Amino acid sequence: MKQGKQISVGLVGLGRLGRQHADNLAHRIPNCKLMAVCSVIPEEVEEAQQELNVPYGYTNYEDMLRNQELDAIFIASPSSYHCEQIEQALEAGFHVFSEKPLGLYMEEALRVRKAVRKHPNQVFMLGFMRRYDRSYAYAKKQIEAGAIGEPVLIRCYGIDPAQAMPGFMQFAKSNYSGGLFLDMAIHDLDLARWYLGVEAERVWAIGGSHRYTELAELNDAETGAALVQFADNKMGIFVAGRNCAHGYHIETEIIGTQGSLRIGTVPEKNQVMILDDRGVVRECANGFLERFEQAYMNEAVEFVQAILEGRQPKVTVEDGVLSTALGYACKESFESGQLVDVRM
Ligand code: NAI
Repeated sequence: MKQGKQISVGLVGLGRLGRQHADNLAHRIPNCKLMAVCSVIPEEVEEAQQELNVPYGYTNYEDMLRNQELDAIFIASPSSYHCEQIEQALEAGFHVFSEKPLGLYMEEALRVRKAVRKHPNQVFMLGFMRRYDRSYAYAKKQIEAGAIGEPVLIRCYGIDPAQAMPGFMQFAKSNYSGGLFLDMAIHDLDLARWYLGVEAERVWAIGGSHRYTELAELNDAETGAALVQFADNKMGIFVAGRNCAHGYHIETEIIGTQGSLRIGTVPEKNQVMILDDRGVVRECANGFLERFEQAYMNEAVEFVQAILEGRQPKVTVEDGVLSTALGYACKESFESGQLVDVRM
């Protein structure tokens, strides 16, 4: 590792998540300097520059890519821009971190894979931050140590808080999100591949919009479910949604031949229990920024560390391609009502 070297990062996207990444990159990631920020909204750029003391600000991504002082680009723009912005950044010689999903269509995901392979000396990492969450990482270690025997079935709930609906509608209306499965369930689809150790083969997905019917107008679902057949007769059951009354419900169960593991079965905010006129209350985490605060930092630490050590991180472009293939098959099944094969 080059001692004392600082990695200069340019961040694109300063929205719900990008602004959090900006705070982390500016203050909390060792050997990292947030050198530039970019958004199409000038006020966001000015605010981030002033608050975080960032030297360069851009409203045009290509202008940021011309900044020779940068080593790496961190992408937190809307999902429909990821592939093009990854390719441009790699071509310009930068290491690249991109938020999930890799792509919204298979053609663009495969194009990015080609671009990543063409630049083997540049680090590429995808933001599947749950793999860097303390509990999810611990569960992986337990599985690898044989704690539950052979994992054969995974059951996942990923449901956004109903109170986040106005923010989500703004996000979904300003840019195509890919829909419930590619946008929301994608984290669970990636975890399923990671824990089960095999790839998905076939999918049946269903969904509906009952409280927020405006989601149906976007051809999307407020609540959806997918049943996935993996290789070796392994199984996945996924529930994704946007209408969780009690908060942010992220729960995972992995059933193995010798036992099972559960993560976040009661999605608690913390260890505090409130006993009052409502009864005995354990409050719930209220969103992704709260639940995965540590994981967003850990993944950025890993990205910077991988650059300094001249190696690739464990979350690869292949994980992006395969999860996109599965998410896209879920979307196709939901839209067509048919059982769909997962195709690359
Ligand atoms: P957002 O809509 O709140 O923010 C998007 C930002 O990108 C805004 O600053 C906007 O001005 C900027 N932008 C839009 N078009 C641009 C362009 N052409 N060039 C430069 N900047 C542009 O979106 P949000 O919620 O922050 O999501 C961003 C990405 O992060 C999405 O891909 C989403 O899927 C992902 N995400 C990941 C999460 C995770 O848990 N890993 C959680 C939330 C979002």
